[in-house]
Amino acid sequence: MKIIFNQLILSVLFGFFLFSCQNSTNNKKVEAVSAEQLSAEISKKLPEQPIEKEHPGKSVYKKNCLTCHQSDGSGVPNMHPPLGPGSWIEKDPEELTAIMMKGLSGQIEVNGQIYKNHMPSQAKLTDEELADVLTYVRSSFGNNLGPVTADLVKKVRSGR
Ligand code: HEC
Repeated sequence: MKIIFNQLILSVLFGFFLFSCQNSTNNKKVEAVSAEQLSAEISKKLPEQPIEKEHPGKSVYKKNCLTCHQSDGSGVPNMHPPLGPGSWIEKDPEELTAIMMKGLSGQIEVNGQIYKNHMPSQAKLTDEELADVLTYVRSSFGNNLGPVTADLVKKVRSGR
């Protein structure tokens, strides 16, 4: 009788043990698919995936134009004109490239605002860099304009 009773207790305990095991695995399963974990997993993997490559002109812009024209191309009132829609970035690519080569001085008007400052020549940039940065600006800051090619920059530089 005592043995049977012991066995009964044992099997109840064992059953309880099994039950709690199952419970904890269930909990784990629920955790494994929780939305937070899933999104954490996804964002961990994101930087490795080349989803959208940064435009090569962006780094040229950061190094050579950003200090004056600002990261969003909005410029600085009364000092540095903006580069968004309505600005000279919409000029004919050849004329625009020539301005980059020579730099710009004297009074100009952009979007109804007067600027009377000086922009140094950007001729130190390679044909490729200048083409990239103009292409980048022409397709950023709300602009939706076509690319400028390195061939065009080369042509303007050589004055042909
Ligand atoms: C040292 C400051 C400075 C830097 C660096 C500079 N700019 Fe400018 N930029 C100016 C100023 C100032 C003017 C206006 C000159 C004037 O008043 O005659 C101007 C004018 C312009 C204009 C014509 C006016 C307009 O806003 O549409 C364009 C286009 C332009 N810059 C693009 C660029 C690009 C692209 C770069 C980088 C490759 C660059 N600038 C680098 C200061 C700068």
